[in-house]
Amino acid sequence: MTVVVTGATGAVGRHVVQQLIDAGRVVRAVTRNAMGAASAAPAEIVGADLDEPDSLTRAFTGAESLFLLSRPATAVAVARLAQRCGVSRIVTLTSILADREPAGEHHHLRVEHAVESTGLEWTHVRPGMFASNLLGWGEAIRRTGVVREPYADAAQTPIHEADVAAVAAAALLHDGHAGKIYPLSGPQTLIKPEQLAAIGAALGRQLDFEEIEPDAWRQAQADSVPGFVQDFLLEIWARSTEAPEPVLSTVQGVTGRPARTLTEWATDHREHFGGEFR
Ligand SMILES: NC(=O)c1ccc[n+]([C@@H]2O[C@H](COP(=O)([O-])OP(=O)(O)OC[C@H]3O[C@@H](n4cnc5c(N)ncnc54)[C@H](OP(=O)(O)O)[C@@H]3O)[C@@H](O)[C@H]2O)c1
Repeated sequence: MTVVVTGATGAVGRHVVQQLIDAGRVVRAVTRNAMGAASAAPAEIVGADLDEPDSLTRAFTGAESLFLLSRPATAVAVARLAQRCGVSRIVTLTSILADREPAGEHHHLRVEHAVESTGLEWTHVRPGMFASNLLGWGEAIRRTGVVREPYADAAQTPIHEADVAAVAAAALLHDGHAGKIYPLSGPQTLIKPEQLAAIGAALGRQLDFEEIEPDAWRQAQADSVPGFVQDFLLEIWARSTEAPEPVLSTVQGVTGRPARTLTEWATDHREHFGGEFR
């Protein structure tokens, strides 16, 4: 069985590729930069762009299943192309916020609806905050051991990308997931100093969190984080100080294994954070 993985170089997609190969499937890994993509796993690298649906014809032809990254502007064309090429099952990567996005900004919901409209088997994987967002703390942790951000009490449930991938892989590989929507979280609700402590536990280092004002954070991020992303993050953090994100049991329910903790995630990414390791 051949599976197409879009976003194959991304935080989740790279794990989907590996897990499918481990399960003995033939994998076509889609990237816009086929020349530069180094495949750790024996996947077939296919150069294609979701913003140019026709470029995906070669990847889709003869494949049974598709792991689809969200690109709303072309989602209808991509889903129909997959159908015409004989793909029978599509698993989307969307977001836990998919049905809470403001009207007119249905980034993920538009992709889900495009896939549903084909009549093919579909499953929507809707993760919350990726633990990989915390890679953004890497430089501060390496250089000073002090992270400065607003909303220290933002209570979120970071999820290991490999767990998001494991749920997607289960839906790609096995029957019984058609028509299901899987909201996902990590196994613990942690405020920011607790998230930092979980990383420190993996590194064997004392790390300190210092709360700063949103405007000071905006200034510090001006060159690296686009304004609309800043707005989005500040809104999510503010909201989760009032309404802590709940822990969901979906990863365990779908994969049969508990979701990985943030300390396990940090152990898997320790090179990024530098310092002493246990
Ligand atoms: N970060 C979070 O906390 C979070 C939470 C919930 C949901 N999500 C969703 O998860 C998805 C991935 O998130 P991320 O930001 O963390 O991504 P990421 O891991 O940085 O990966 C982005 C991937 O998208 C691929 N890509 C981008 N534009 C493409 C295009 N036009 N055609 C083909 N491939 C394209 C890139 O491949 P190449 O560069 O190799 O082409 C890369 O593999 C997004 O839809 C996001 O909304 C993220």
